[in-house]
Amino acid sequence: MEVKTGLILFLVFMILQRGEGQLSETFYQTSCPKLESIVRNVVTQKINQTFVTVPATLRLFFHDCFVEGCDASVLIASPNGDAEKDAPDNLSLAGDGFDTVTKAKQEVEKQCPGVVSCADILAIATRDVIHLAGGPSFKVELGRRDGLISLASRVAGNLPEPTFNLAQLNTIFAKNNLTQIDMIALSGCHTVGFSHCNRFANRLYSFSPSSPVDPDLDPTYAQELKQACPQDVDPRIAINMDPVTPQKFDNMYFQNLVAKKGLFTSDEVLFTNPASQPTVIDFAKNPGDFNAAFITAMRKLGRVGVKTGQAGQIRVDCTAFNS
Ligand code: HEM
Ligand SMILES: *[C@@H]1O[C@H](CO)[C@@H](O)[C@H](O)[C@H]1NC(C)=O
Ligand SMILES: *[C@@H]1O[C@H](CO)[C@@H](O)[C@H](O)[C@H]1NC(C)=O
Ligand SMILES: *[C@@H]1O[C@H](CO)[C@@H](O)[C@H](O)[C@H]1NC(C)=O
Repeated sequence: MEVKTGLILFLVFMILQRGEGQLSETFYQTSCPKLESIVRNVVTQKINQTFVTVPATLRLFFHDCFVEGCDASVLIASPNGDAEKDAPDNLSLAGDGFDTVTKAKQEVEKQCPGVVSCADILAIATRDVIHLAGGPSFKVELGRRDGLISLASRVAGNLPEPTFNLAQLNTIFAKNNLTQIDMIALSGCHTVGFSHCNRFANRLYSFSPSSPVDPDLDPTYAQELKQACPQDVDPRIAINMDPVTPQKFDNMYFQNLVAKKGLFTSDEVLFTNPASQPTVIDFAKNPGDFNAAFITAMRKLGRVGVKTGQAGQIRVDCTAFNS
């Protein structure tokens, strides 16, 4: 009797393990052995054409994972303009991120048709852009399936805002199984890429009645930002988020925070709030600590809301559900 119960429990455990279809680094080892080198080649060529590929792909992955999970839902194009990518918060989802995944998928399909999900291709391409921009490399877990829902209406409330304080940041990351340290490390992504002026103009012109400029901004940096972003600026103008090494994936973001050169309130608060300051100082001083925490956090981000096993589908075209 006891042996039987044990056996049944063991079988249930095995079925859960397999049926749930855990992610695994070797998921495509037999079904698409060249997958990672195919993606890497496409990404390398694409970065060679434009550096924007790096921040665009990185942010695309983040937005994908935080809305419906890492399931390529953000890639869906909609004729009605009501897909996830059409939500107001998509402003900087630069076309080069989408283009990277589309190109990589095309190359992958030539060798392994119908086998590799768009969600996994985005995850691999994201790892590659980080490494090719000078950041750490790491193994990517694979086996995600592509999602079946992509709605602009499900974006609101699921992405952090640049005005968030520490508690708000922690809450939204905790919903995605990410800790405060994960959140701080992942914010280090703002070491590359651009922001439109309207996302931080409040810190330059209308912070508070007594102080129009946010006192947590270095005055010289605030002056430079005002020059780049005058009050009546063209809303299409965007500036580097890391003013020092904008094209390098390094720990400069944290050094900037210590120097009061964090662009968003949600960046600088990581230094000004005593609860997160020690982590920021550590990452600013020790690139190795940042890299290690960043890798841990990226792998956790890649597990958020994933569909595995028989859930979802393997899309043929990353921008459309299979018909
Ligand atoms: C912590 C909360 C976060 C907030 C409030 C936030 C907010 C923003 C905002 C407002 C922009 C500028 C968009 C624009 O005006 O074009 C931006 C850009 C960017 N974010 Fe974040 N973000 C956060 C976390 C992250 C994370 C975790 C990642 C990566 C995993 C990331 C990657 C990026 C990248 C790469 C860009 C530049 C995009 C480009 O140049 O095309 N962000 N973010
Ligand atoms: C990068 O671009 C240059 C020309 O702009 C070209 O000569 C070179 O072969 C390219 N390298 C890769 C890896 O695509
Ligand atoms: C972003 O969303 C707006 C509507 O909020 C839409 O007009 C625009 O085309 C979208 N941009 C992209 C790149 O999808
Ligand atoms: C967070 O982790 C729990 C336990 O592993 C899991 O059930 C849940 O789906 C995860 N949430 C997300 C958003 O991934």
